[in-house]
Amino acid sequence: MNFPATFPVLTTERLVLRGIADHDAEAIFEMESDPVAMRYWSRPPMREMSEAIAARERARTFFPERTGLRWSVTRPEDDRALGQVSLFSFVEPSDRAELGYGLARRHWGRGYAHEALVAVVDYAFGPLGLRRLEADADPRNTASVRAVEKLGFRLEGTLRERWKVGEEISDTALFGLLAHEWKARRNAG
Ligand SMILES: CC(C)(COP(=O)(O)OP(=O)(O)OC[C@H]1O[C@@H](n2cnc3c(N)ncnc32)[C@H](O)[C@@H]1OP(=O)(O)O)[C@@H](O)C(=O)NCCC(=O)NCCS
Repeated sequence: MNFPATFPVLTTERLVLRGIADHDAEAIFEMESDPVAMRYWSRPPMREMSEAIAARERARTFFPERTGLRWSVTRPEDDRALGQVSLFSFVEPSDRAELGYGLARRHWGRGYAHEALVAVVDYAFGPLGLRRLEADADPRNTASVRAVEKLGFRLEGTLRERWKVGEEISDTALFGLLAHEWKARRNAG
């Protein structure tokens, strides 16, 4: 794994994936205070803007501490974040990490998540030198399951009652994607 010395900004046809900016707190709050968007998230919806500011500050430590890479997914015309894609839980000796993602609800259904995820997976299996990516989704989260399946992730197993969020206990559907599978897919067009 080749952790980068400077934060890797990624560009796609419609999007710029950049590091966290001060004004992203609003976008974090928009998504993470929405009970619909947070239905299957690993923590309850935020109630206060101060929680979004704290989350932004925590996320800012990931890159300098080499614990993760979190991209704000933006449109170049206004630099506003639609949501985020992250790589985290790096296990450097095994060249693997987890993939996380979420967009504010008003940006769903337009292919933005897929476009951003393709760029991050390309980066993960390219310059970053990962060998394996994992994604943990609630099996009932059909939009999330579809998002990883569209990338070629395979369901590898169900981890029962893995999460407790508030009073709700839920399973994890664990998905995995290997670098050689991704490269074969990309070469096949
Ligand atoms: C998971 C999540 C990011 C998926 O977002 P999404 O917008 O549904 O995903 P996509 O970007 O792949 O877009 C999907 C749809 O956009 C539509 N679309 C519209 N315009 C499009 C375009 N120009 N290009 C591609 N797709 C387009 C497609 O019909 C596609 O539907 P399909 O998958 O049935 O083909 C979103 O549901 C979310 O943020 N959920 C809340 C957070 C969450 O649960 N995260 C995951 C935790 S594990």
